[in-house]
Amino acid sequence: MSQFSYQDGVLHAEGVSLSAIADQFGTPTYVYSKAALLANFAAYADACAGRDALVCYAMKANSNLAILDLLARQGAGFDIVSGGELQRVLAAGGDPRKVIFSGVGKSADEMRLALSHDILCFNVESIPELHRLNEVAGAMGKTARVSLRVNPNVDPKTHPYIATGLKASKFGVAFDDALATYRTAATLPHLEVAGIDCHIGSQLLDDAPLLEALDRLIELIDKLGDEGIVLHHVDIGGGIGIDYREAGEAAPVPVGDYLGRLFAKIDAWRAARHDGRPIKVIFEPGRSIVGDTGVLLTRVEFLKHGEEKNFCVVDAAMNDMARPALYQAWMDMQPVARGNAEALTYDVVGPICESGDWLARDRELAVAPGDLLVMHTAGAYGMTMASNYNTRGRAAEIIVDGTVSHEVRKREQPADLFALESLIK
Ligand code: LLP
Repeated sequence: MSQFSYQDGVLHAEGVSLSAIADQFGTPTYVYSKAALLANFAAYADACAGRDALVCYAMKANSNLAILDLLARQGAGFDIVSGGELQRVLAAGGDPRKVIFSGVGKSADEMRLALSHDILCFNVESIPELHRLNEVAGAMGKTARVSLRVNPNVDPKTHPYIATGLKASKFGVAFDDALATYRTAATLPHLEVAGIDCHIGSQLLDDAPLLEALDRLIELIDKLGDEGIVLHHVDIGGGIGIDYREAGEAAPVPVGDYLGRLFAKIDAWRAARHDGRPIKVIFEPGRSIVGDTGVLLTRVEFLKHGEEKNFCVVDAAMNDMARPALYQAWMDMQPVARGNAEALTYDVVGPICESGDWLARDRELAVAPGDLLVMHTAGAYGMTMASNYNTRGRAAEIIVDGTVSHEVRKREQPADLFALESLIK
């Protein structure tokens, strides 16, 4: 059930009207629903109930401290990709022992920080990274738990920028090199081989590629086991898509259906092995936890009727939401209130000095200057990818809980943007 609905002709987040939020906090503003966030996490938690499983929220999707705190309180772990993200987990009161550290370029400083907090596992992506981690851990008198990110060479059938599991990708260890890389890892004294992981891509509407990737990981786990390298967890990454609702697009597989099929495969495999050893299952979902929990609220500045196109110029821009400019992503836009303006086909664009600064193209909208619009399904990879281009402060963030609006990030002011700069003497 969507937590964003029209009540008396005005779009609401739970029990709060978005026009009231715009009046109180200004625009552009990200507005999230707490109930939607908890429901999305529950879809994972319920399917994992009674199993040895951990949901490590991929916080690159949305790393606001209040979101992390709400998820941590539900028992979430976190998938991080930088020392900065670990600092956010700690600031939000998350448990570092439920943190896994992904990414191709971890620095020695980031490794030290993560080791000092005893994180659950490093997802290692190359042999040089294994050696660096072994050295850093050795110098600290610690042992680092590692998993290898294996590239299963499965086509996720998604946008090329967010497909990560193919041979040409910078990510992971090639499937054919995985056994040899595990053998190397097993010889390094300050590493403990703990698991295996993969992440094949994002916004997958179908779970078949994910299940195929799992088959490939199972094949490796069995081969390693035969060599005496026993893995304790399998991490299948994130990737389940959400409904951006572009006409003609297939609906994404429901999370519960995907997890049901995945656990059935794991159970059948463990039963066939007859060794009775359990294996922990880790997930790294980002978009499917936060994507549909948020909208980007924006106000129409001008309507501009060009020779070939009509433009709806709004106060949000590509610096607030980069997905359309970067990936030609289709994101649904709707007016907050249904007025009586004439419906026309518009390109919705921001004030930034780039032709690439658009949020939606060729949309039929009945809007007037001063009206409010929302971009739907903006909770994932919206605020986290925002920039300060054109010295635009990043948007405010609000979490609605029933009838209460919490400002969980203030709008940045220009002085915030140049606070770290100085003139040469
Ligand atoms: N694990 C790893 C190692 C990842 O690289 C990612 C996302 C995830 C998990 C979470 O994937 P999700 O469940 O959210 O699909 N900015 C792009 C998406 C980039 C995804 C990067 N990695 C977008 O706006 O579509």
